[in-house]
Amino acid sequence: MNRSRPISEAEHDTFFASISGRDDCRFFAIELVDGGAHVGNVWLWAIDTRHRKAELRIVIGDRAARGKGAGSEAIALLCRHAFDSLRLHRIYAYVLSNNPAAKRAFQAAGFTEEGTLRDDRWTGDQFVDAHLLAQLNDVP
Ligand SMILES: CC(C)(COP(=O)(O)OP(=O)(O)OC[C@H]1O[C@@H](n2cnc3c(N)ncnc32)[C@H](O)[C@@H]1OP(=O)(O)O)[C@@H](O)C(=O)NCCC(=O)NCCS
Repeated sequence: MNRSRPISEAEHDTFFASISGRDDCRFFAIELVDGGAHVGNVWLWAIDTRHRKAELRIVIGDRAARGKGAGSEAIALLCRHAFDSLRLHRIYAYVLSNNPAAKRAFQAAGFTEEGTLRDDRWTGDQFVDAHLLAQLNDVP
């Protein structure tokens, strides 16, 4: 995710050690109901308890598991947890313009597009726009 080169085992270990005990992020595994395979992760990032908002990020690493509704369901479930248990009010996500499936998955989970950050990311050969999408809790 957002990395230009492969990540080593040691970097993974350092990263997971660094997030342990932090209260500004929460990670979850996405497991298939049928068989329980761990196909991806979904997480809340930059949790801001003062303004009651967080960014939602997701990856389904197993390509065979994509396009079957797991992503949008995981996004919707994590939003429910964020709203009902963590009492957050706003969940937002950045989706690149060259990733229509991700945009569609967030929209299917109830996100609304709020705007475009022009040329926000360098992909290695070009700049691409990032779309900002968000979902608000019905309860203030
Ligand atoms: C983005 C991602 C999490 C979505 O999860 P998923 O399980 O594949 O998504 P879903 O099956 O729930 O929904 C995908 C939607 O995109 C649609 N879609 C798939 N390919 C598409 C394309 N090329 N153009 C437009 N829509 C597309 C599907 O039809 C579906 O929409 P629908 O529910 O209206 O039929 C997953 O594809 C992924 O991990 N991708 C790589 C990492 C990534 O991009 N993360 C998000 C960064 S913001």
